[in-house]
Amino acid sequence: MADSAGTPNALSQEDVSRRKFLNLAINGVGAGLTAVLAVPLAGYFLDPALRSAGSARSWVKLASASDLTNSPQPFKFQTVRKDGFMQQKADATAYAFLDEDGQVTALNNICTHLGCPAGWDGAKNKFFCPCHGGVYSKSGKKEQGPPPADLHRYEAKIEDGSVYISV
Ligand code: FES
Repeated sequence: MADSAGTPNALSQEDVSRRKFLNLAINGVGAGLTAVLAVPLAGYFLDPALRSAGSARSWVKLASASDLTNSPQPFKFQTVRKDGFMQQKADATAYAFLDEDGQVTALNNICTHLGCPAGWDGAKNKFFCPCHGGVYSKSGKKEQGPPPADLHRYEAKIEDGSVYISV
């Protein structure tokens, strides 16, 4: 297109505004796509840091204090399982009892070997895992078999006549 001076390569006002529009449109689409990709990526990388910094553990009511004896008993409770960004409620079991000092002990009965549920045998005063013969003491210490660690001990407290564990 020729301008008023007759120069064939000069751009008209219409070409300039179309070029500006296309540049703005392309930049806008690029910025939009970047935002769409960047927000989940930022969340993926920041979420664990934010969770560990800002997440307080929550206390879950396990039983009435009057239900506890000196022998471990299973109590069911609900917990939230997190798998990446997925969260779902799940049933769990904790074995709780009163120790010699009257303090509550609460143990997760999931075996630390491969995750089978260990059960309490009052006659032998031990927790037994049925899968590979793991044995734990009353306080959850590993004693025999393949478990690499003790049973997980929940932080526990008695308040207003109820037993709470920290999950
Ligand atoms: Fe308990 Fe293997 S899962 S001993």
